[in-house]
Amino acid sequence: MASVDVVFSPAEPLPRADGWLVVDLLRASTTIVTFFERGGRRLLPVSSVAEARDLRRRLAGRWLLMGERNALPPEGFDLGNSPLELASVDLESFDGAVMTTTNGTAALLAAASRGGVVTVAAARNGLAAVARVSHCERVAILCAGLEGRPALDDTACAGGLVARLLGRGAFALSDGARMALALYGSAPLVDLVGLSRHGGRLKALGLEADLEYCCQEDCSNGTVRLVTWEGRPALEAF
Ligand code: MLT
Repeated sequence: MASVDVVFSPAEPLPRADGWLVVDLLRASTTIVTFFERGGRRLLPVSSVAEARDLRRRLAGRWLLMGERNALPPEGFDLGNSPLELASVDLESFDGAVMTTTNGTAALLAAASRGGVVTVAAARNGLAAVARVSHCERVAILCAGLEGRPALDDTACAGGLVARLLGRGAFALSDGARMALALYGSAPLVDLVGLSRHGGRLKALGLEADLEYCCQEDCSNGTVRLVTWEGRPALEAF
């Protein structure tokens, strides 16, 4: 039987999988899904702020610099990591964006190093993201977590993805998958996320509208996968 595992942070040993769903509910995976929904062409995830600045300088064409440290845009960045902020930019007029976030892009790069299909998953595109890996023998849901620790927000979202996978067929569940599923079933997603450390930080920064947007479920058909573009990891709609 096919199986599904949930990994609570990239600091855990990563399992073997042929289909990955990478989740950073607040906010990187939600922002990435929204970026492509709004006409963005390509996203280049990188680890550090310095690498992001350097890469943008070296790329030909028009590229945005987006991302965060401590939930706020680093100096000189065009955009932070807010999905709602993307409405203010004509994304189609750019070749794409270079992106770095504290946990989300690191999780994507960790999954990229493992092989298999890597898909970006959020609550907003849960059903659509799950459909992209439901044929896989071994599905792994990798939560970005918070600085190497599990995060309530990502774990709850991962549980919702497990529930949606089970709606498409039979999967053997790891203990991690059962824990995430139990959490997701325990209360509405927005309430669970409101209790999380990062949810609290976003509220304190006046970014509650982002939190609510990130918790809306199944309102996007957009799917995003990791590919190799000019020798580097890149994200594109598919
Ligand atoms: C991250 O990658 O840690 C997050 O997406 C942080 C944020 O909410 O901006």
